[in-house]
Amino acid sequence: MRTQVCIIGGGPSGLLLSQLLHNKGIDTIILERKTRDYVLSRIRAGVLEKGFVELMREAGVGKRMDAKSYIHDGTVIAYGNEEFRIDFTAHTGTPVVIYGQTELTRDLYDAREADGAKLIFNTEDVAIHDADTDTPYVTYTVGGQSQRIDCDYVAGCDGFHGVSRQTIPSSVRRDYEKLYPFGWLGVLSETPPVHEELVYSNSDRGFALCSMRNANLSRYYIQCPLSDSPDDWSDGKFWDELRRRLPDRHAESLITGPSIEKSIAPLRSFVTEPMRWGRLFLCGDAAHIVPPTGAKGLNTAASDIYYLYHAMVAFYHDKESEGLDRYSEKALARIWKAERFSWWMTNLLHRFPQQIEFDLKMQRADLEFLRENEAAQKVLAENYVGLPF
Ligand code: APR
Ligand code: PHB
Repeated sequence: MRTQVCIIGGGPSGLLLSQLLHNKGIDTIILERKTRDYVLSRIRAGVLEKGFVELMREAGVGKRMDAKSYIHDGTVIAYGNEEFRIDFTAHTGTPVVIYGQTELTRDLYDAREADGAKLIFNTEDVAIHDADTDTPYVTYTVGGQSQRIDCDYVAGCDGFHGVSRQTIPSSVRRDYEKLYPFGWLGVLSETPPVHEELVYSNSDRGFALCSMRNANLSRYYIQCPLSDSPDDWSDGKFWDELRRRLPDRHAESLITGPSIEKSIAPLRSFVTEPMRWGRLFLCGDAAHIVPPTGAKGLNTAASDIYYLYHAMVAFYHDKESEGLDRYSEKALARIWKAERFSWWMTNLLHRFPQQIEFDLKMQRADLEFLRENEAAQKVLAENYVGLPF
């Protein structure tokens, strides 16, 4: 088989890139290790920056998102029993959009399948060959049969545990990583959200977040030890702990119900450099991970896709290769700023095992400064709604 761009990974990054390139007459094949249903069963975040929303519209897959999403003009930050609001729209002119990653991925699958895209599921042993030559190719096995795809370029959209990043020799690649000494226990429940906007809460007992998917679907998180398992947390225990970490007025109005999903995710900051090696380009989680505190995971993938999409269109339509040559540099410049913001939000809102009294005073001063200072609020708002591409 032959294609112009072989895309490894059928998550949001790979699907969005494939859809955008298809609309410009550029041929792709997507190789996905799992099935569509498996990919859609993963619960991920649900806050979209304007840049992501515009890219979905440009890809022609914005219709359901525009009809079903919610606009949030701000967010609440709480500490102890205190709370204040950051008004994104007042500070930046831009709100954020609430639309679950599951829904967005479903829209992308529907669009790709309606266009007859070459989506190959259950691929095993995917390997990228000769990426540092002009004739790269990808091999894989499906249903016990070995296959080969020759291509011009490979897009590594296969997430943190994929093969693409590992294909870049260790003599060329440099990884930067920070692991946090706690995880987030997340619960999805068919209950109305406790508040009309998200509530990020710093409490003596650890961080908590109240988020949502729609008027009757709430997503809540609490910081927990990495050694915990979801089985350690009955629904009752989770709701009790969440209440204790929220200001009284939210704790009192919280509507609880059975959890329909419960999982623990570790928190990690990670960046690999460079994001391009020869004809291989890394996008999304394959190249970088942020802790979820700033809701940047999916949104950092969007800027990679934006740069790579425009670079490929310039190459195929106008024989202009500058965008491809500068991809890694441009993508990383934005990624590091999103990494900084996510790391800062994480430090601001969590309890760390090694924190001494002084550190707690610094955290409190940071929160009070944010509460009182318009400039500090504007900085948070600009980062939260997304820096320009
Ligand atoms: N071969 C083929 N597919 C693979 C391989 C492989 N060796 N390894 C992983 N994959 C697939 C995974 O099954 C997954 O469906 O690649 C896909 C990667 O998808 P995501 O992990 O969702 O990553 P990405 O598409 O970059 O999405 C951006 O950022 O913070 C997150 O929540 C956010 O998941 C979102 C991600
Ligand atoms: C979510 O809704 O899952 C969510 C929202 C905001 C975050 C992280 C997760 O910062």
